[in-house]
Amino acid sequence: MSHTLSTLAYLVASVLFILALRGLSHPSTSRRGNLMGMVGMGIAILATLATPGMRPGGIALIIAGLAIGGGIGAVIANRIQMTALPQLVAAFHSLVGMAAVFVAAAALLAPQSFGIGVPGAIHRQSLLEMSLGLAIGAVTFSGSVIAFAKLAGRMSGAPILFRGQHMLNAALGVLLLLLVAGFVWSGSPALFLLIAILSFALGFLLIIPIGGADMPVVVSMLNSYSGWAAAGIGFTIGNLLLIVTGALVGASGAILSYIMCKGMNRSILNVLLGGFGAEAGGAAAAGGAAQPARPVKSGSPEDAAYIMRNAGKIIIVPGYGMAVAQAQQVVREMADLLKKEGATVEYAIHPVAGRMPGHMNVLLAEANVPYDEVHELEEINPEFAEADVAYVIGANDVTNPAAKTDKSSAIYGMPILDVERAKTVFFVKRGMSSGYAGVENELFFRDNTMMLFGDAKKVTQQIVQALQK
Ligand code: TAP
Repeated sequence: MSHTLSTLAYLVASVLFILALRGLSHPSTSRRGNLMGMVGMGIAILATLATPGMRPGGIALIIAGLAIGGGIGAVIANRIQMTALPQLVAAFHSLVGMAAVFVAAAALLAPQSFGIGVPGAIHRQSLLEMSLGLAIGAVTFSGSVIAFAKLAGRMSGAPILFRGQHMLNAALGVLLLLLVAGFVWSGSPALFLLIAILSFALGFLLIIPIGGADMPVVVSMLNSYSGWAAAGIGFTIGNLLLIVTGALVGASGAILSYIMCKGMNRSILNVLLGGFGAEAGGAAAAGGAAQPARPVKSGSPEDAAYIMRNAGKIIIVPGYGMAVAQAQQVVREMADLLKKEGATVEYAIHPVAGRMPGHMNVLLAEANVPYDEVHELEEINPEFAEADVAYVIGANDVTNPAAKTDKSSAIYGMPILDVERAKTVFFVKRGMSSGYAGVENELFFRDNTMMLFGDAKKVTQQIVQALQK
């Protein structure tokens, strides 16, 4: 394949990646989007294998890498539970970061293979690209490992704070810039090593203060960092497609971070600098002090079915527990029965409900819930006041009014779904435990709340049975 042809193939792959992102922006087009991404990646791999001057040994290495990496990826993708996806995504981001570190090291050790000079005399521009890829890659690696450990429950989700944390991060950042400048000037392998060590430390320090409810923003931010790391490496090895793809991932991750920040009412600058959850009450995120038991009103699925049968407007609020119980299908069955009884049924989606962006949309789409019944927070919030029932299934933090009133709360400032305004609020959950952010939900104790204790799928199935009688 000639250079022109392979550039053309890379261009086609880039366009397909852009169309894939566009497709993924809505559940109705997301399958097509995924397909376009896969075709784009197929074209990119074939074009790489057919690159002029590619030796058989190189081709064999690429194919072996694809077989091993692809094989492991396929096994993991088949086995992974939907609820464990966020930590998997964090783990994968760490691999992208580490790959960038390795490619930068390879370029430093064997620059002639990349056409960027010879050992000891590498082009200045390449040294700059290399060090940026290295620094962002190393920050992404260690930051993602911490995010993985927090999301997978391997370490406490509470913010880890210490005196002078921000000053230390700022000092490390400045030192890193000086080291990059020194490396670009000298090409010294010792400085390369120092940049790597310092960046690993910075990634670690940026993510440990993030706690509780703020993790979603961090995951999308690390996603963005991994893209920029790949783009930096694309410049080093002169690969157009890697530059474009890295920039696409970097930009889309940054846009997602911005959207999540808006959803959580956080400042994007604080996210980029790390530690933005620091002021947000570590005690609450850690679970808070034990509270004396307070009485709650609980009911049976039959009670719930009776009230809902007589309701005119019902808003379903899904959360993480619906994903755990895999209750989406039976929720839709319940909604169908209620609609037959003449009720209006709508779904309210909070931007950070569940454990990954779009988590609830994916589940509802899987259960064939009509898209026009699914509403975002701003759109649905005014409607709760007119609703007879809010059916909160496995959601907790995203309904918690402490976000509006309690300045010491880990979720303070996050917009919430105003379920409390509905005439009756059902909370379907197994017990009284708090949600991801570890904050107690005052709504459980309100007069218009009825707790429906049990597994989300079982309780909803029982409601369906009662409605069918
Ligand atoms: P959470 O506040 O985490 O609450 C989920 C509730 O589901 C829990 O209180 C739990 O109570 C209940 N539950 C668990 N398994 C259940 C089952 N089988 N049946 C019934 N209930 C079950 O969820 P949310 O309201 O969706 O809020 C999401 C939280 O996760 C936010 O704090 C958000 O910041 C954070 N987060 C989000 C993301 C993204 S990107 N969406 C990523 C990471 C973290 P019981 O134990 O009493 O049943």
